Amino acid sequence: MTLTSRRKGPVMNEPTMPLNQAIRARHAVRRYTDRPLPDEVAADLRATVEEANTAAGLALQLVLDEPKAFGGARSLGQFRGVRNYVAIVGPKAGGGAEACGYQGERVVLRAVQLGLATCWVGMTFSKRAMPVTLGAGQVIYAAVAIGYGESGGHSHKVKPIEALTSAVPPFPDWFRRGLEAAQLAPTAMNQQRFRFGLEDDAVRGYPGGPYGEVDLGIAKYHFEIGAGPDGWHWAT
Ligand SMILES: Cc1cc2nc3c(=O)[nH]c(=O)nc-3n(C[C@H](O)[C@H](O)[C@H](O)COP(=O)(O)O)c2cc1C
Repeated sequence: MTLTSRRKGPVMNEPTMPLNQAIRARHAVRRYTDRPLPDEVAADLRATVEEANTAAGLALQLVLDEPKAFGGARSLGQFRGVRNYVAIVGPKAGGGAEACGYQGERVVLRAVQLGLATCWVGMTFSKRAMPVTLGAGQVIYAAVAIGYGESGGHSHKVKPIEALTSAVPPFPDWFRRGLEAAQLAPTAMNQQRFRFGLEDDAVRGYPGGPYGEVDLGIAKYHFEIGAGPDGWHWAT
């Protein structure tokens, strides 16, 4: 799995924010300005969505300038100004939810690198209003709102890393770094119910809570970035 995009920063000669930094800069943002996405930013997001789909056999779809999905009663007034989003679409069976979490978070962190705000959304939007194509056996798991935020959002209370694992400290450095990155992963209702177990140098993820598999996929993407590539692998 390739974590770092080979593409350059959004503006010529501008260094791309490292993914570890993007993890720390990301916060859920629910209110957006009407500033449209510049063409080159939209093209970069579209390419990231394509990479994600190719990597995991998904059907994530970038929808631009479409205010209806977040404009109706279902958004319960929490969201304002959402006109761009990624519909998180994948197979209903065979690990589709976890893969959608993992690949959706790849798009989220790329958006952060591009200077955009985001929010994962499971409930408070209208699936019916989304102009997306569903193939056989595919479902819409969630959406990710994307745009220029009215603010950058703010940090939320997180569980200590010891509460995110059944392993007993002291942890290997890579495991601690992985947990610290997973600790900052967005989860539905901020429940952080995923867990990571350690079996020698193998890590096993356990889902928990509503949207448990999606949350676990998101947390796994963060864990990989934090832990780095060496010295460990996912348990099979
Ligand atoms: C799978 C998933 C579903 C979510 N669904 C909603 C939602 O329906 N409405 C909402 O306002 N926020 C939703 N969120 C955003 C979370 O509430 C938010 O990520 C969490 O409170 C942590 O805050 P942070 O992202 O700023 O760290 C969802 C997040 C995830 C990962």
